[in-house]
Amino acid sequence: MCGVVGYIGGRNAQPVLLNCLARLEYRGYDSCGIALDGGSLRVCKDIGKIAELAKVVPQLDGLAGIGHTRWATHGAPSRINAHPHLDCSGTIAVVHNGIINNFQVLRRRLEAEGHSFISETDTEVIPHLIEKYYRGSLEEAVVAALGEIKGSYAVIVLAAGESKLVVARNGSPLIIGVGDREHFIASDVPAVLDYTNRVIYLEDGDLAVVTSGGVSVTSRGAGVERKETRILWSVEDAQKAGYEHFMLKEIHEQPKVIRDTLVNWVSVADSVVDIAAMRRNLESMLILACGTSYHAALIGKYVIEELLSIPVRVEIASEFNYYGQTLARTAAIAITQSGETADTLKTIRKLRAARCLVIAITNVVGSSASRLADHTIYTWAGPEISVAATKSFMVQLMVLYWLVMSYSRIDPGRLAELVMDLRGLPEKVQRVLGRGDVISEYASYLAQHEDVFFIGRGINFPVALEGALKLKEVSYIHAEGYAAGELKHGSFALLGSGTPVVAILARDNTYEAMLSNIKEAKARGAPVLAVAEEGDVAIRELADFIITVPVVDAIFSPVVNTVALQLLAYYTARERGCPVDTPRNLAKSVTVE
Ligand code: AGP
Repeated sequence: MCGVVGYIGGRNAQPVLLNCLARLEYRGYDSCGIALDGGSLRVCKDIGKIAELAKVVPQLDGLAGIGHTRWATHGAPSRINAHPHLDCSGTIAVVHNGIINNFQVLRRRLEAEGHSFISETDTEVIPHLIEKYYRGSLEEAVVAALGEIKGSYAVIVLAAGESKLVVARNGSPLIIGVGDREHFIASDVPAVLDYTNRVIYLEDGDLAVVTSGGVSVTSRGAGVERKETRILWSVEDAQKAGYEHFMLKEIHEQPKVIRDTLVNWVSVADSVVDIAAMRRNLESMLILACGTSYHAALIGKYVIEELLSIPVRVEIASEFNYYGQTLARTAAIAITQSGETADTLKTIRKLRAARCLVIAITNVVGSSASRLADHTIYTWAGPEISVAATKSFMVQLMVLYWLVMSYSRIDPGRLAELVMDLRGLPEKVQRVLGRGDVISEYASYLAQHEDVFFIGRGINFPVALEGALKLKEVSYIHAEGYAAGELKHGSFALLGSGTPVVAILARDNTYEAMLSNIKEAKARGAPVLAVAEEGDVAIRELADFIITVPVVDAIFSPVVNTVALQLLAYYTARERGCPVDTPRNLAKSVTVE
């Protein structure tokens, strides 16, 4: 997804901008560019990576500048479509993250008024609108221009000789890093952490004028104060710390983040939300999410229904937005790691408009989801850089478990067992991580195939979906997650010696049926890789390969099983030489519908 950065202060802006952009690489992009004000504006942009741009960019001097990583939406990746975009006079430059829905109407009107456009992007209307409205005050012109726009944006505007940046946010994240007589602007905190840990989160509707000496923020015309937040994680937290890839580092961080989430969550649980109270007033619960977060939601459904006996609906956020629902007396949980997924945010707005209670579970403090929801439960995973979600998924599960267990009225003996198991999970996950060598060996085998099925039942059906998503996302192998009982209703036609089946087991009421499904797959020639509990003797007779995981209560089996599948996906992708952390065509946060 696009990333924007800006700098104004006493340093040469060029290396600062390139460094800040490099810190946003994890968002995914296809082209990048910078503009500097050295009395007149100088722009350098192209398709490809920041390191490539850094090699060819001439030395541009200037104490203020803006930069951009683009993930194409309107117009193919190209130098012309890359940001920054300029007005006709070449004195106003803009970088933008978001979508302008009415750009065609605006563009036609501006063209009729004499403005000429060179790109296919929606963004290019912004500098032209600012040019049109400019009467000596850059901020007034930006306000007038943005008033014409329907859509979402995080924009940074640079104008020649102005010694200020004008920035605005509506629906796309934007932060200001505060330094000593210098300011850094970015889509996300990791971009500025090399320079400062003092950050101001702008809110939707905010417009800020940023100079080297200060920041003044207005919201819909009135001055507002936005407090500084100190970021407690360091730039090292956002780096690889000796791991070959962020994905592997983040997989290995899971014992720690499980612990952190439980500690933090336990300390705030009472004040956040009382599910028991919700239960008294509710007929049903709804959980909404996309991608990996959706899989966490599906696991949450099993846990909530089993322990609280509340019927739970889980919906893919992008689908929920399209049909009529009966929303009365519904409490909803929106799960989104980034807190910026456009489809999930749209569902939160819709639910709030229907007066439903909405709880957001997100990893990003100050994210849009946290602003829109009635309550926010933060997960404590720290920054997740790899596009593939791993540790953020794990902490979503932890929050769901703890949320339910905090308020369930289950038998105290059973609850005590579950709490004990929950507390033991970091150590169990550590043991799965210790099986990296075996998993990597099996991954070399999997890497030779082009189609893989993942099967599971009950609470491990969503784990099969997640295992398949992870594998296809990072290794580009076609993978399908299936409810194990469904395979025989059509997909058996594809089974054979070239289509391995990864079977995910738990010692619950699904176990015997899973063994039968494995036999069926074997009978059709498919090699079977099982993820099964230590001490499972029966599986040894059936599976070709076994990844053993520590014994846990079946309700927690998604935790250990998912970690095994994350490692499997990671090592398979590495074996195939894929760019693990930045898979093609994907972005870390999907801020378009
Ligand atoms: C998973 O590895 C993906 N990166 C993707 O499916 C992701 O989970 C999805 O886009 C939802 O993101 P969110 O949690 O930030 O809303």
